[in-house]
Amino acid sequence: MSDFLTSERLPGLIQAAYIVAAILFIAALAGLSKHETARRGNTFGMAGMALALGATLVLAARNSQYGDQRPLAVTLVLIVVAMAIGAVIGARRARTVEMTGMPELVAMLHSFVGIAAVLVGFNSYLEANHGDGHLEGSLGTIHDVEVFLGVFIGAVTFTGSIVAYLKLSAKMTSKPLTLPGRHLLNLGILVTSALLLAWFVPVEGDLGLVPLIAMTALALLLGFHLVAAIGGGDMPVVVSMLNSYSGWAAAAAGFMLSNDLLIIVGSLVGSSGAILSYIMCKAMNRSFVSVIAGGFGSDGAVSGEDRDYGEHREIQADEVAELLAHASSVVITPGYGMAVAQAQYPVAEMTKKLRDKGVEVRFGIHPVAGRLPGHMNVLLAEAKVPYDIVLEMDEVNDDFPDTDVVLVIGANDTVNPAALEEPGSPIAGMPVLEVWNAKDVVVFKRSMATGYAGVQNPLFFKDNTQMLFGDAKDKVNEIVAALG
Ligand code: TAP
Repeated sequence: MSDFLTSERLPGLIQAAYIVAAILFIAALAGLSKHETARRGNTFGMAGMALALGATLVLAARNSQYGDQRPLAVTLVLIVVAMAIGAVIGARRARTVEMTGMPELVAMLHSFVGIAAVLVGFNSYLEANHGDGHLEGSLGTIHDVEVFLGVFIGAVTFTGSIVAYLKLSAKMTSKPLTLPGRHLLNLGILVTSALLLAWFVPVEGDLGLVPLIAMTALALLLGFHLVAAIGGGDMPVVVSMLNSYSGWAAAAAGFMLSNDLLIIVGSLVGSSGAILSYIMCKAMNRSFVSVIAGGFGSDGAVSGEDRDYGEHREIQADEVAELLAHASSVVITPGYGMAVAQAQYPVAEMTKKLRDKGVEVRFGIHPVAGRLPGHMNVLLAEAKVPYDIVLEMDEVNDDFPDTDVVLVIGANDTVNPAALEEPGSPIAGMPVLEVWNAKDVVVFKRSMATGYAGVQNPLFFKDNTQMLFGDAKDKVNEIVAALG
């Protein structure tokens, strides 16, 4: 064993394993980009991770042979116990989490990456000062900058992700926190951090901990403030942006630990998260810079809650069945409420019944419907709704004037005309499914409550809209029964 660990060929083998793992991660991302290949993509990802963990375990064992004070067995036991604890907690959470709870779980996991980067940074700095890893000259400067940036990104990711978790799990208001002079506050933190970096790099010894700790406190505050200032409707971009930050934090940790695989994986996560954030900003007609700078332009937003939109009309399930039976074209626009009610199975059954009767049924999916990118697509695929009738918002929006009935199942913000008609609204400018252009609209929800962005929805009060109150799954089941 010890011959194997001290063999000269081992570092090369570990690097080779890392390269194969990196290729598997890239193949995983490629696979995950399409429904049909997503399962294969996941398998590649798991294989890459298993290989990476195995190689890293061997690397840790090799390092313990050189210079570590601990015996090899102790090192291995410590790592295996830590991995076992993490694996048990992770497996339990993954098995018990509801699909609707995924975004907050993901936000929480991002916060772990953030705090890990902070701890790795401090450890790396202390080790360079007190251990035998001291670096001189320009290498020392590069290492200091790596530590400083790694800790900064990690700390912003940590508190930002915790606020995202609190907002997504409704433990904190989804309304934006708009402090006076908030952009100046953010700018002040950035400038002060840059000055602290200028102090940190040349300073020798433990005195460097003073600017490092001061910057960490400021970065923690910045992460909190940036995400607290973003309103509910813009949270999807924030989640993908924090995903990107967590990738860059991991890449920074990779530089500090001189671990090539961590650098590659962190960069893959960082860049794919940034691309996703950009796509989401485009889909929601938001400026990328505005969102990451903490909700530029949301000043003075009004929610329309106090406005009098008039009376709403109600409809019963058997009447909806009647309406559908006489329709020739139907579009279903699902939203978060369909996920909460787990209504996708009866929705799939209703779709089949209607199609069997010759009614054209299609789905219109808003890019941020639900709480996760692709949330509705996943649910509908799970219930075996054919892919070819599930359309993107842009593919269906022009067809509403020729549609007989639109069923809005648990969607709210994504079908809210206030986004187009009320310039002061927090969701102003966001493209929405223009369902009100259809002949009849039926909205399935339990009450007149607002959606995630906390904005009242004038759709509910339009002349061609009727409300079907109750749990979406129960109501769709009643319609299925009435359709016979
Ligand atoms: P929302 O605006 O969240 O509205 C969902 C509606 O479903 C609510 O008005 C609720 O009304 C209804 N509902 C809840 N449980 C229900 C049940 N059991 N049966 C029937 N109805 C039920 O939905 P949306 O249109 O999908 O919009 C998504 C929102 O989340 C957007 O603001 C988006 O920006 C935000 N967001 C999205 C993401 C991603 S990536 N997709 C991530 C974070 C945030 P009642 O309470 O009256 O039933």
